[in-house]
Amino acid sequence: MPEQTFLMIKPDGVKRKLVGDILIRLEKKGLKIAAMKMLQITKELAELHYNEHRGKEFYEELIEFITSGPVVAIVLEGEGIVKIIRNFAGKTNPKEADCGTIRGDYAFDITQNVIHTSDSISSAQREIINFFKKSEILSNTEG
Ligand code: PPS
Repeated sequence: MPEQTFLMIKPDGVKRKLVGDILIRLEKKGLKIAAMKMLQITKELAELHYNEHRGKEFYEELIEFITSGPVVAIVLEGEGIVKIIRNFAGKTNPKEADCGTIRGDYAFDITQNVIHTSDSISSAQREIINFFKKSEILSNTEG
């Protein structure tokens, strides 16, 4: 199976109408989108997705924010895609993110930082299963 990663455009990115811009950047780079959908995250899904941050001081704010409006969930695939998309996003704290990255260009706040991206192949596998059925992922297809 090709390497896959999970990218989520967070509620601030959707509200600010950055979805099109982010998709254009992904497509212009020639990356393969294997699955994509817009959804409203439930509290249960948010807690599953951010389980590793449970107990941290920002956890409650994080759950409240990610469930505050629709998000766009995306699976991308290709060799080295986890690292490519981490670089595409920029550092978690937008104040440290390089210009040319999504957070460097569009974000200022560490919670409202426009996109989430998987930090490893194993996180990606776990996160993708939380958001997509196997049948929704169009792997190894053209386009
Ligand atoms: S850390 O510090 O290692 O736990 O950070 P990281 O694994 O990169 O991601 C943390 C996610 O929580 C969101 N968030 C915050 N992080 C750090 N500090 C504060 N105050 C904070 N508030 C929210 C941050 O946006 C990361 O979300 P994702 O969706 O993973 O990018």
